[in-house]
Amino acid sequence: MSERVTVFGAGYVGLVTGVCLSSAGHEVKVLDVDPAKLASLDAGRCPFFEPGLEDLMRASRDKGALSFATVDSIRRFSGIIVIAVGTPATATGSADMRFVRSVVDMLEERAEPGTVVVMKSTVPPGTGRALSARLAPHGIQYVSNPEFLREGSAVTDWFQTDRVVLGGVGDAIDRVRPMYAEIDAPILACDVTSAEMIKYASNAFLATKISFINEIAVLCDLVGATVDEVASGVGMDSRIGPAFLRPGIGYGGSCFPKDTRALDFLANLHGYDFHLLRAVIEVNARQRLLPVRALKEQFGSLEGRRIAILGLTFKPETDDTREAPAGEIISLLRAEGAEVVGYNPIPVPMAELTSTADTLQEALAGAHAAILTTEWAEIVDSDWASLVRTMADRPIVFDGRNALDPQVIQSAGAKYIGVGRPQEGTA
Ligand SMILES: NC(=O)c1ccc[n+]([C@@H]2O[C@H](COP(=O)([O-])OP(=O)(O)OC[C@H]3O[C@@H](n4cnc5c(N)ncnc54)[C@H](O)[C@@H]3O)[C@@H](O)[C@H]2O)c1
Repeated sequence: MSERVTVFGAGYVGLVTGVCLSSAGHEVKVLDVDPAKLASLDAGRCPFFEPGLEDLMRASRDKGALSFATVDSIRRFSGIIVIAVGTPATATGSADMRFVRSVVDMLEERAEPGTVVVMKSTVPPGTGRALSARLAPHGIQYVSNPEFLREGSAVTDWFQTDRVVLGGVGDAIDRVRPMYAEIDAPILACDVTSAEMIKYASNAFLATKISFINEIAVLCDLVGATVDEVASGVGMDSRIGPAFLRPGIGYGGSCFPKDTRALDFLANLHGYDFHLLRAVIEVNARQRLLPVRALKEQFGSLEGRRIAILGLTFKPETDDTREAPAGEIISLLRAEGAEVVGYNPIPVPMAELTSTADTLQEALAGAHAAILTTEWAEIVDSDWASLVRTMADRPIVFDGRNALDPQVIQSAGAKYIGVGRPQEGTA
């Protein structure tokens, strides 16, 4: 059954939602308040990089299933309304609900009775219960429908999701089920607050796996074990699984850092000290210091040293630099007086850099050190033996993702430092 769906927000989640729903046969309108984004969409261009999205978007638009508009151009709302606006962190760590609130305020006035509001933005547990109570007197139903897609594989993730979570009362959930008729995944129907908590708990658990393996990496360094072997062996246990067990400079991006902080904030708000989560956040912050500390140990001072930062986005296959580890590491290096040149396979702006290189070769030429901050295949699969030879005398390569081959780098004359990988001669 084809549904009429309006999506608020043409960001990574909203646009992917709109495009995937329309390509599955629903009639979708995506709204945004950003004129530049809408101009790009009207011209058939995806305003951000997400593999496969632009082609699918054009196909849906050409068959009349997908359109874009400004929020102000719509006077009355009905059908299914998906909210996918941002919920960034505030200075205190809580989720900034400004954008969600402005949409809900408007819907309260302009949505027809019988409308169902579907919340895809990540909102603190408790939000939906309050919003449901506000909207119910207007005949508007509310369903929490947290999103689990990953940037870089968002389209595949949408169609091949592990589960669809729908939180709300039974008849509201039944109104939303047809939206997912084309998706072959279990639907977990639960209450609103549990649905909200599933999202935060999932991200907190994945962040915990990352910080856990990073702690194990420290111990591996101390006892002379190789964390990559340890992670492989641990991940082979089907109760644990291999995902999110790669040690490195820690998690970043638009979700894990803000969602872990928001959950910690929520716990505090309710008078609970979430020890484990706090440790996860602290360990992650510590990981960022590793390359800076390692380079200072090797060079003494970083003043005037040319350091190449390889990978500016928070993960490969995206252009998203929100809370990317690179940004923080660059600022730390600049504060030490280093000259920092950045390279990313997809050009992205990063104000903290001294300069940006157009190619990997240009970034590494004459560099005293390189830090791999994001494991883009283009960077990892390059000819590192040749690249190292273009660097300064006795350079250092800090592999912040344990993705490079230490032997190739060492044989070419550089010092290789990974995370929890034994140093040359200690294996
Ligand atoms: N990015 C991810 O990988 C991801 C994954 C799962 C969940 N989420 C959650 O989904 C939500 C959206 O994240 P995102 O990364 O897509 O954000 P984003 O910043 O990429 O997009 C948000 C969009 O909403 C628009 N917007 C703001 N106010 C609006 C309004 N009043 N009406 C219409 N549009 C408005 C903005 O202009 C922007 O285009 C967040 O709560 C996030 O935590 C994100």
